[in-house]
Amino acid sequence: MIKTDNIRRIDRLASEHCLRKEDYLALLTTCTEAEDAYLAARALETKEAVYGNKIFIRGLIEISNICKNDCYYCGIRASNKNCERYRLTPDDILECCEEGYRLGFRTFVMQGGEDGYFSDERLVPLIKTIKERYPDCAVTLSLGERSYESYQALRKAGADRYLLRHETATPAHYRRLHPENLLWENRMACLENLRTLGYQVGAGFMVGSPFQTEEMLAWELCFIEKFKPDMCGIGPFIPHKDTAFADFGAGSVEMTCRLLACARLIHPTVLLPATTALGTMHPTGREMGILHGANVVMPNLSPASVRKKYMLYDNKRSDGDESAQALETVRAAMERIGCEIAVERGDRAGSDAD
Ligand code: 5AD
Repeated sequence: MIKTDNIRRIDRLASEHCLRKEDYLALLTTCTEAEDAYLAARALETKEAVYGNKIFIRGLIEISNICKNDCYYCGIRASNKNCERYRLTPDDILECCEEGYRLGFRTFVMQGGEDGYFSDERLVPLIKTIKERYPDCAVTLSLGERSYESYQALRKAGADRYLLRHETATPAHYRRLHPENLLWENRMACLENLRTLGYQVGAGFMVGSPFQTEEMLAWELCFIEKFKPDMCGIGPFIPHKDTAFADFGAGSVEMTCRLLACARLIHPTVLLPATTALGTMHPTGREMGILHGANVVMPNLSPASVRKKYMLYDNKRSDGDESAQALETVRAAMERIGCEIAVERGDRAGSDAD
């Protein structure tokens, strides 16, 4: 093969796991189709060296769409009057876990808006109950920004992992995606606190969000190099009709896949989901993500009655392949691309819990 500049960059990334920002920018913006295919192949090879052909599954339970925040991009933002609000009770959540365990899930992700109802007093006994009933399972929380003391109480109760996307590594960009009261610095402090407390920490960002430049995407890769999150959620921005960003275009599947591949090469053991947003943008988006180095899928375990209400963006997939009941469909889709779903917790290789 002719060693073009981009092929050299990809080889260097695969062996040294870091590049200069300018080289990331070149990779993201000047790859030819053949170079993209080489990038994907190197990412896939790297994933297989660490995780084989195994894909980890997470049962996603969307516990509440009530949120005190007003993020400009998000369909469940506080000021969206068209959003029909719900919250699950602890008993509803335990039922989801029971169903999930039976289906083969060994990680439960409780995700929700920043809903004051889910105080530490309510969450601590719930987490303890889940861990008692399913000692072989991991509990992941994705409940936004909370105090150090709260993260500590939830960790002590047994929570193993926490997902908190940083949304953008560029503070000035964060300003344009969020109202004044939400600070990039707080977000970063939360991520640091979670790490100090011994959680496996998930960060992440949207691709193609309003005002994002390609240079900012290059900075995202520098951020992954530096912070080394255990998990990293990377998905395309998709507009929601009831938000300030309704008229912006969606992020691209190709760019998302390129970023996934780079993330895999930067941090070979990282847990990388093929996101629901990617599956929403393209009928085989999730498979494309897997073929670019992703190794996690997160089917929806929420009760069918509330699924349509957790609408972060327009047309968010929650049925078909996204539903846990259709796990067999997911399994078949994964088998078609040579992958196998693993019935295990699926900790990051080399992490303390591994
Ligand atoms: N498009 C894509 N992703 C979105 N999220 C929220 N709104 C959107 C949107 N319109 C993502 C954010 C958040 C996660 C739960 O969902 O990154 O952290």
